[in-house]
Amino acid sequence: MSDIKELITKNRSVRRFKEYESISIGKLKQLIDLARLSPSAANKQPLKYIISNGAERNVKIFKHLAWAGYLTDWKGPAEGERPAAYIIICRDKSIAKESINCDHGIAAQSILLGAVESGYNGCIIASIKRDDLRNDLGIPEEFDILLIIALGVAGEQVQIEPVDEEHGIKYWRDETSIHHVPKRSLDEVIYELK
Ligand SMILES: Cc1cc2nc3c(=O)[nH]c(=O)nc-3n(C[C@H](O)[C@H](O)[C@H](O)COP(=O)(O)O)c2cc1C
Repeated sequence: MSDIKELITKNRSVRRFKEYESISIGKLKQLIDLARLSPSAANKQPLKYIISNGAERNVKIFKHLAWAGYLTDWKGPAEGERPAAYIIICRDKSIAKESINCDHGIAAQSILLGAVESGYNGCIIASIKRDDLRNDLGIPEEFDILLIIALGVAGEQVQIEPVDEEHGIKYWRDETSIHHVPKRSLDEVIYELK
């Protein structure tokens, strides 16, 4: 497997971590540096990043996130398996007045690939109680909260599966707690023009 394919394959969304294996501020800044170097529409670079790797701030962030919508009988990671760190990706409204298209998605993927290369995993979270999070952390109004990247050392195994009749595109967990994530086949996603 090529290095890039291996990295992308390992970059599965992980939602259970070894919470007490911390990530240093220096490492989190290195990951943000990868986002900083990533493509940006009109090269405006409107994203701002807020770092959290300490218990107090982590708790404030965690309670405003929703996890794994398809796992309806799972309430999210328990104490001890929560993320060790977070990066909150915001739009600086003074740079980009209107909502932005996909800069934050590209930035998120750069952060995650860097994390995987360094032995961590993560999960992009868009289900955020944004107003509550803003109040709890004192995030200024000029920052629009876009995404949160949860990060840590993986505490669960995630396996790619083909999309099948039984599960469709919905990820699931088996009796041994392995998380399975279906991916459509290459043939299905490439459209051949007639
Ligand atoms: C834009 C975006 C938003 C997401 N939001 C959430 C979320 O709020 N909560 C969550 O548990 N996972 C979230 N995810 C993770 C997806 O569920 C995950 O990417 C999908 O299940 C496929 O798994 P994989 O990342 O391992 O390929 C999000 C992913 C993306 C790209």
